[in-house]
Amino acid sequence: MPRFDRRTFLATAVSAAACSGFAAKSSADATGLGDIAAAKGIWFGSWTRGSSLDQDGPYTAMYARECRLIVSGLELHWDAVEPQQNAKEFAEGDAIFNWTLRHGKKFRGHALVWHERLPKWFAGLSGRAAAESALVTHIRVTAGRYAGKTYSWDVVNEAIRLPDGRADGLRNSKLMEQIGPEYLDLAFQAAREADPGALLVLNEYDIELPTEDEPDRFQALLNLVDGFKARNVPIDAIGFQSHLQTKEHSAFDQGELAGRLKALADRGLKVLITEMDMVDRASPSDVAARDADVAAYWRDYLDVMLASPALVAVVTWGLTDKDSWITRGDLPEFKRSDGLPPRPLPFDTEYRPKPVYFAMAEAFKNAPKR
Ligand code: GLA
Repeated sequence: MPRFDRRTFLATAVSAAACSGFAAKSSADATGLGDIAAAKGIWFGSWTRGSSLDQDGPYTAMYARECRLIVSGLELHWDAVEPQQNAKEFAEGDAIFNWTLRHGKKFRGHALVWHERLPKWFAGLSGRAAAESALVTHIRVTAGRYAGKTYSWDVVNEAIRLPDGRADGLRNSKLMEQIGPEYLDLAFQAAREADPGALLVLNEYDIELPTEDEPDRFQALLNLVDGFKARNVPIDAIGFQSHLQTKEHSAFDQGELAGRLKALADRGLKVLITEMDMVDRASPSDVAARDADVAAYWRDYLDVMLASPALVAVVTWGLTDKDSWITRGDLPEFKRSDGLPPRPLPFDTEYRPKPVYFAMAEAFKNAPKR
């Protein structure tokens, strides 16, 4: 059962709103979540529509105020930076990277290798050597371009998929066809060589808790990590995407999640929350009740994650409901049956903070310092 009590939450949210003086302090010098988290040694930030950062005043101000970490989105996927082999396109990646540094923030790259964003020409390469060389060159050039000034890289995104039927639990993809499972080792080694200072992350969905479809996903992840360790492959951290759903709150198993974090910490790994947001499909139409549901689970989840000394960063997949892939309806199963727009992120479409914003602020304030 969730240990959350809605009445306590509302009282906390109201007093947090009053204390933070958030509404009154909307200028860039106001304290944001990034500052509150930083006081505990935690990086807070978000994915952003990079192209809007220099065009939309209130949007830019929100990112400048709230984030200490800025995460690239579409700009640095392989198919975006190398649409034709050896023809590099870094204009958009450079723009978000430069905005980040100009505003005194840390940059986090997403993602060097992802099966969904391979350039079309990759599948047409003939021979394993050509595919390996293309992969390594891409990583050397991309991670090398921002080397020394990047906090972390998602080196590989979503490498596991149990229904594909492999004994190692790895996903069948063009990478697997062209190179084999060694593509993972190659990718991490190339990233380390290109940017020795960046935290190298394997980013995964549905590793927070067992799911009906893939109950053994986390074990497959541990097996992969143990293989990396045995082969001296440089991996530093695991990214928990954390696309949560309010319908899961009642079954949220805090002990299970804490055990997973410990298993990773025992292996010397750090943990990042990398894409947090929340599907509110199972919550009421009433906005206040729905926002309270989202905030409640978000807070319970964060409390467990922040209690682990391995947790170093919290990243949301956007700050405003306006930007979210959930609101956009990318996955039909995330749409609401009442037809109302989902409310998955800390700010509404008018950039007003919602209860989940204050729940996050409280969670950071209560987190142990690291
Ligand atoms: C995944 C990916 C992200 C993004 C989100 C939602 O989790 O890692 O790059 O596409 O889905 O859009």
